[in-house]
Amino acid sequence: MSTLALERHPLATPAIRPPSLADLSHIPGSDGWPVLGNTLAVLADPKGSVEEMAARHGRVYRSRVFGMRSIALLGPEANEFVLFDNTKLFSSTHGWGAILDRLFPRGLMLLDFDEHRLHRKALSVAFKSGPMKSYLASLNSGIAHGLEGWRAAGPDIVFYPAVKQLTLDLASVSFLGAELGDEVEAIKRAFVDMVAAAVSVVRAPIPGTQMARGVKGRAFMVDYFGRQIEARRAGTGEDIFTQLCKATTDDGAHLTKQEIIDHMSFLMMAAHDTLTSSLTSFVYHLAVNPEWQQKLREEALSLQLAPGEPLPFEKLDEMKLTEMAFKEALRIIPPVPSLPRCAMRDTEFGGYKIPAGARVNANPLYTHHMPDVWPEPQKFDPLRFTDEASRNRHKFAFVPYGGGAHMCLGLNFAYMQAKCFSYHLLTQAEIVAPRDYRPSWKLWPIPQPRDGLRVRLQPLA
Ligand code: HEM
Repeated sequence: MSTLALERHPLATPAIRPPSLADLSHIPGSDGWPVLGNTLAVLADPKGSVEEMAARHGRVYRSRVFGMRSIALLGPEANEFVLFDNTKLFSSTHGWGAILDRLFPRGLMLLDFDEHRLHRKALSVAFKSGPMKSYLASLNSGIAHGLEGWRAAGPDIVFYPAVKQLTLDLASVSFLGAELGDEVEAIKRAFVDMVAAAVSVVRAPIPGTQMARGVKGRAFMVDYFGRQIEARRAGTGEDIFTQLCKATTDDGAHLTKQEIIDHMSFLMMAAHDTLTSSLTSFVYHLAVNPEWQQKLREEALSLQLAPGEPLPFEKLDEMKLTEMAFKEALRIIPPVPSLPRCAMRDTEFGGYKIPAGARVNANPLYTHHMPDVWPEPQKFDPLRFTDEASRNRHKFAFVPYGGGAHMCLGLNFAYMQAKCFSYHLLTQAEIVAPRDYRPSWKLWPIPQPRDGLRVRLQPLA
């Protein structure tokens, strides 16, 4: 198979023709402007534009963005219908494919149904507690080292680019292993180019564009992974790449070389911008809610570790407030604001027929701000995530990691990295924001503060 194959893989779910406008005309909504559709409104204000359409048309509406017509299905019940999908109605291959297929083809999230289940099981070995312990060891040393560098550069920091670089450095060790040698910088550059290209507006690899750089980056990564697989299978490394090289399917067979390449590329992408965005919104909310910052600091100090001691795996469960605060940051600013699928058969939701071939979108960002589910939705209140409060809420009201068959495979990794980062940072420094600091956030394609988040990390006495 070509490394940039856009041709359909023989095992992939067959494509299905999208319905015509006439087939969707019974669903309220609007196609927007000729050619552009509603793209500009969505780009300018992804949250406001969905809320406005929902107020006008209801929680099932049709729209046209980036040249594709789709149906928004909003709210917890809609999330459950689309994501839980116990009758294998919705294809993720044909939902995410249009965005990710060129650079991350055949990643786990782009597989469907039985094939997806088989691969998800094989990949799960990399997220069991044994390997997770060893990733935590590398996160501990990488974060301690990263914070040392920040301290040396002075207390004022533009947080988003700094944590993006840190997340990349951490991933190069926990995903690829410590022995990267001279290639490490080229690997990081190739990877950053791929991620940026995946969400770039120009979709063809025209020379000089981000997509062209992304395509070149993928060719580099394909070559790099391909060269390493045999050695990793024989080695004793504890990184995610080595785990995947050794992983087997139910019949005991190793994943093929191409499968390992595709899964590794996708995994690194799935982890990188999501962690960068969520750690940024976490730190922002702690900066402007100093009482919560202090509670989390006290929780970290109550673990009774010596200054600078690594956070042990066994202590992660004791950081309950930290987890609640991180969840609240994910609720307010979910890194993946919308989840696309394609209906493979005719179905119905909310009284509307949804024809086969229709693109549908579940929307974490909208759901997380529904005032009837989350009173005062803009308020940062981690107590929304006590066991009792969570028990009384719809299971699909909080969906930053999706839900059902494709629910984020790396969510425990994400909590672990957030806790490890919070533990090291808050026991060393106070996050201080200017008075009344309210940076504006660009929510598309991945949420980030427009000014990069300017805070001070004041060393603790
Ligand atoms: C706060 C951080 C993260 C967030 C908010 C997040 C969010 C998500 C979401 C929403 C999905 C499901 C998309 C869908 O159903 O359409 C997903 C899938 C996935 N995520 Fe994450 N993710 C995060 C971190 C990570 C990390 C750290 C890893 C790997 C170490 C990872 C690996 C994956 C994988 C492999 C899938 C595909 C699962 C499947 O299709 O079975 N994610 N993630």
